[in-house]
Amino acid sequence: MADRLAIEGGTPVITKPIPSGAHGPSVIDDREVNAVAEVLRSGKLFRFVENSNVAAFEKEAAARLGVNHTLMVNSGTSALVCALTGIGVGPGDEVIVPGYTFISTAAAVVGVGAVPVIAEIDESLGMDPADVERKITPHTKAILPVHMQGVPCRLDDLIALAQKHNLKVVEDCCQCVGGQYKGAYAGTWGDVGAWSFNYYKVISCGEGGMVFTDDYDVYEHAAFASDPAMPMWMSDKEWQNPPFSRQCYRPSEIMGAIARVQLSKIGDILSHTRRLKKAFLAELDDPKGYIPQHVDDPDGECGISAAIIIKDPALAPKYTEALKAEGLGAGTAYNEGFPDRHIYYYWDSILFKHSPHPSGYPWKDPAYKGNVEYSRDMCPQTLSILGRALRFGFNVNMQADHARLMAAAINKVDAALG
Ligand SMILES: Cc1ncc(COP(=O)(O)O)c(C=O)c1O
Repeated sequence: MADRLAIEGGTPVITKPIPSGAHGPSVIDDREVNAVAEVLRSGKLFRFVENSNVAAFEKEAAARLGVNHTLMVNSGTSALVCALTGIGVGPGDEVIVPGYTFISTAAAVVGVGAVPVIAEIDESLGMDPADVERKITPHTKAILPVHMQGVPCRLDDLIALAQKHNLKVVEDCCQCVGGQYKGAYAGTWGDVGAWSFNYYKVISCGEGGMVFTDDYDVYEHAAFASDPAMPMWMSDKEWQNPPFSRQCYRPSEIMGAIARVQLSKIGDILSHTRRLKKAFLAELDDPKGYIPQHVDDPDGECGISAAIIIKDPALAPKYTEALKAEGLGAGTAYNEGFPDRHIYYYWDSILFKHSPHPSGYPWKDPAYKGNVEYSRDMCPQTLSILGRALRFGFNVNMQADHARLMAAAINKVDAALG
């Protein structure tokens, strides 16, 4: 017989709080402090200086990723805007995004004057390739798969789909910095990838982002999009395309200095979180009342999260409450309570086609010949999955025993409720 649940008066599995904390910021030490101090003492805060930290970071990140070109910018959103510009997305184009991602993914599409089309997710919590194919129209220019919470989505299928329909692929790796998929870094499968270094990401310099690609023209367009004066700052470079003017997403040397140190720690961060996730999975019993999140490549993912999807929607709140009583914080992603901006349901600015300009762009742009429609319930599969998905995080402040206790709490609740 299963142990009595804590919610029914039994002894909780977890009696001391599981350590929390952001990934990159948790490992900040004197190296970051000294790197910043050095920049401040030098007085050279602008990225186009001799021995630039930003330039060195770009070089070091390119070597790690094995890509030809990298461009540091001031946020992940900026990286997506530059990446989309890099592959030539603009007015008249549709770009397919998943219904589960930070709103920035869709906002970046609007930012380049194109129209986001929202596709369902599946049990991978990433884009559902079947729904992506249904959403392709003559106006579709690209798909924008997102690797949520360190888990690369179904890239094999999505890349094959893009090839079949002659579409470009931008990979949003903002939550999957350093994650790999079948032997290559997430972000190197499509035409261009984007990282974020905001506070919550695998590595952080407070705010920041990076575009990466093997294609020189994509890089050059992204670079022009990141700074109207780029061709002048980098006068030692022979630009191959006519420069154009866009916004300014230039990072500072302080960001570059922190990012360099953080990049050197990425291996340690991810080997720790991957160990935690492996300990968690090894402890989990065969599920009764839930299915685990589908993960295409368990060895490559970052190990910073796990998700279980409760089969019976009516039981999801019961699992939540029972797990909380066992000492494990839990909650479904979509619960009509907290408006999680990672769910399309709450993207009012997109759903209601709010434009910053009376012309109503991008939806009413004369270049746009499509007729995308949005509604709150347009992706029922996404809402159903997220209404039953309980997500758990692993971070560098935890030890393997914490991960095992988390699994033990899930086992206990599943044995009683599943
Ligand atoms: C999936 C995803 N895409 C894009 C972004 C945007 O990154 P940033 O906050 O650095 O602009 C985020 C940030 O949370 C994200 O999670």
